[in-house]
Amino acid sequence: MREPIKWVLNEQPKSDCSKSLSLMTPQEMEKAFRFHRSFPQYTETPLVNLSHLAGYFGVKGLFIKDESFRFDLNAFKVLGGSYAIGRYIAQKLGKDIANIDYQTLISDETKKKLGDITFYTATDGNHGRGVAWAANKLRQKSVVLMPKGSSQTRLENIRKEGADASITDMNYDDAVRLANEKASKDPNGVMVQDTAWAGYEEIPGWIMQGYGSMSYEAYRQLKAAGVDRPSHIIVQAGVGSLAGAVTGYFANLFPQQTPVITIAEASAADCLYHSCLAEKLVPVKGNLTTVMAGLACGEGNTISWEILKNHARFFASCPDWVAARGMRVLGVPLKGDAKVISGESGAVTAGLLFTILRDKEYEDFRKAQGITKDSTVLLFSTEGNTDPERFRDIVWDGELPSGPAERSSKI
Ligand SMILES: Cc1ncc(COP(=O)(O)O)c(C=O)c1O
Repeated sequence: MREPIKWVLNEQPKSDCSKSLSLMTPQEMEKAFRFHRSFPQYTETPLVNLSHLAGYFGVKGLFIKDESFRFDLNAFKVLGGSYAIGRYIAQKLGKDIANIDYQTLISDETKKKLGDITFYTATDGNHGRGVAWAANKLRQKSVVLMPKGSSQTRLENIRKEGADASITDMNYDDAVRLANEKASKDPNGVMVQDTAWAGYEEIPGWIMQGYGSMSYEAYRQLKAAGVDRPSHIIVQAGVGSLAGAVTGYFANLFPQQTPVITIAEASAADCLYHSCLAEKLVPVKGNLTTVMAGLACGEGNTISWEILKNHARFFASCPDWVAARGMRVLGVPLKGDAKVISGESGAVTAGLLFTILRDKEYEDFRKAQGITKDSTVLLFSTEGNTDPERFRDIVWDGELPSGPAERSSKI
């Protein structure tokens, strides 16, 4: 018997989240987008129209943003670290980020004014690679700590960006604490973490804004494809910074009719699902063992939680087979649809949607979602095959089977 997906309708009492929401306005997203667009490596990542899969399920539209093309780094994460570093430097130089571009950042003049900085962070892989990449481009140093069990390939990829990177013997949340301690002891140290906690909110807020570039692009691409508003969005969460960024942007765009947003977590690290049940941010402890390395975080981001608490409709706790199913569905598309190479953390959204629409066991979830023939769903594939060996074990060798399941009735 496969482990079930757990899901919950968010019925928490509403609270004032205007401060967090104001980080993610269309104006702020445009600033982040313009900043990223100034990078010579910038290209818009594809929004793949899975029209045949949509037809197969009987829904109007199905689109997935493919972040495997992001800056040749195979994941969306660099958007956050680079923007936070950009904003930090803008602040140091006494400038507005709107007036800072890539060329200013890498100039000799900027380097001279700033002196030496070491950026510290903890990461499952993708965030650290982004921070190391950005630090490297700015001719600054980075120190990257990874949780135990991290992939050797991901470590090597971070080292290739010139970082002092190592795998620790602790879980993600403890690695964050250690990186923070090291940064605070280093007179030139700056902690660039992709999650917020009481007293550490400015940089994580900038990181969320940096992620906003992805939603900003996605919305423009949807409009170009003739979609005014997606009716449903599924986005994955580790600490929830990304999910808060996506949810905040769409809640700002459509305050009266916010799309139905579902937050997908790994069941081994489902702190937001539990927080929804508890009606307050609560951690989950332990080893957080899951193939979805990017989602293996047990403590949610405080800023993001304010947004999710008020604007996300569902939280879903997904076992590893859901991610594996998504990887296979996206990697072997229906004829006429483009292939998407999606890694474990990237594919859980597609695996969840596929399961909701196809398996009888989850028909109640489909009904609660209100997915009908008029629905247009937006998904995010946040990474490519960042752990290529694992990718092949799953896609070629059938690791983590989703098992046979009774089909649901057609929409
Ligand atoms: C590929 C990928 N997707 C999603 C996430 C989740 O982002 P967050 O931790 O902001 O929830 C991560 C985080 O590292 C990731 O690497």
